[in-house]
Amino acid sequence: MKRIGKLDGPRVRIREIRHEEISEILEWIEDPSFRSEFLPFGRDADDTVMEKLKGIALEVDGTRFLAIEKTKIIGLVLYHKVSYFDYFDVGFYVVPNERNKGFGAEAMGLLVDYVFKTYRVDRIEAGTSSLNVASQKALEKAGFRKEAVRRKTLFRNEVWEDSILYSIIR
Ligand SMILES: CC(C)(COP(=O)(O)OP(=O)(O)OC[C@H]1O[C@@H](n2cnc3c(N)ncnc32)[C@H](O)[C@@H]1OP(=O)(O)O)[C@@H](O)C(=O)NCCC(=O)NCCS
Repeated sequence: MKRIGKLDGPRVRIREIRHEEISEILEWIEDPSFRSEFLPFGRDADDTVMEKLKGIALEVDGTRFLAIEKTKIIGLVLYHKVSYFDYFDVGFYVVPNERNKGFGAEAMGLLVDYVFKTYRVDRIEAGTSSLNVASQKALEKAGFRKEAVRRKTLFRNEVWEDSILYSIIR
């Protein structure tokens, strides 16, 4: 993975996480209101994803985490190259008191620009729960298009849930 430096949008920038910010980010991750009802994903998320997120420094298992910064850090974007294919998968999280102000969509737009400028890929994917309206709207504002309903991909609260596959093409 290449070093990103910082990328500025009108209201937020995305940049590498600084080591002194890791403890704050770990507090977010432990906080149910940050994780929201939609995180972590999947049945085995509690024992695996959370443990991996705690190793957040910059990269966990090939997934690269970056900070979203306003005047201070307000969230994370993440990306990784999908194994065996030539495209990237992305995600984003904003702290609860900064949600629904357009920052998630702006940060995602910056991430998309960065990935397309930096890597030889023409496709970026994002998947989200069919119930996660905020995520779907923010992805659409960032230029993603709904591609498919993936039936029964999440087992949450003892029921199977569909997820929505979004993508953006260069
Ligand atoms: C998903 C997330 C990153 C989006 O970031 P954000 O900064 O809130 O996104 P934006 O403000 O750019 O866009 C959210 C949009 O959803 C809308 N929205 C939020 N909740 C909604 C709801 N229940 N019904 C309808 N619209 C809703 C907002 O009004 C906004 O739309 P608008 O700009 O047209 O008003 C943020 O909500 C988050 O961190 N959620 C918890 C973690 C998560 O689910 N991450 C994504 C995993 S796939």
